Amino acid sequence: MSERRPVIAANWKMHHDHLAAIRYTQELGYRLSGEEAGRLDVVLCPPFPALRSVQTTLEADRIPVLLGAQHVHWEDEGPFTGEVSPPMLAKLGVRYVIVGHSERRQLFGETDETVNRRVRAVVRHGMTPIVCVGETAEERDRGGTVERVRAQVTAAFEGVPAAAVASAVVAYEPVWAIGTGRTPTAADAQATAEAIRDAVGAFAGGNAGAGIRVQYGGSVKVGNIGEFVTRPGIDGALVGGASLDPEEFARLLRAALVG
Ligand code: PGA
Repeated sequence: MSERRPVIAANWKMHHDHLAAIRYTQELGYRLSGEEAGRLDVVLCPPFPALRSVQTTLEADRIPVLLGAQHVHWEDEGPFTGEVSPPMLAKLGVRYVIVGHSERRQLFGETDETVNRRVRAVVRHGMTPIVCVGETAEERDRGGTVERVRAQVTAAFEGVPAAAVASAVVAYEPVWAIGTGRTPTAADAQATAEAIRDAVGAFAGGNAGAGIRVQYGGSVKVGNIGEFVTRPGIDGALVGGASLDPEEFARLLRAALVG
């Protein structure tokens, strides 16, 4: 892994109620050594109802894991039934917020424009966005991968100061790799991660390109994480299915550190 601090985030999606989340967090705490956690940012992104429970468990047991959210609205407050605001998350100690996951883009009408609003709001409240980008199978087949991810990252960071871009995270997640057991080769993922970094550097200036962390996501497992995160330019992973069991997730973190 690079000199950038790697970040491995567990995206639980719509799994684990708050009681299951507490058990999970304690179990992960037993299995994760301080030495391991010191080498990377480990982030748990539970569903909203479990955020408070995970936060208090992490604090009470002094578990060296950071809290993340899966989604956020861009307004601080207002008549937005069902939404959760950035200051509400910040108050809970949330450090990372996933923005623009492909499931939200495909199933819930998320657009590049709303991704940008959310990214700016997350940054404004001192949290770090994990901006998800990635091509569909059809875009890949016609050679449009780089064009697609470049457009997504430049739209996502429009109007965001270079210093905030430099400390942000992009998750490169090919849509066809999410939950399918299929992945690009590590060399392929690395090439796209580099294209993302170049696009960010050219667009945002400063040290944004050198600083931004680019994760790989999509069917990451214990058996393949090492291939991805040992590539220069891939600074960790966003993990869905393989993060749902704390024992498996702890093994995955260990495999990432061993390489
Ligand atoms: P997966 O999901 O690891 O289950 O493929 C990754 C993601 O959607 O972030």
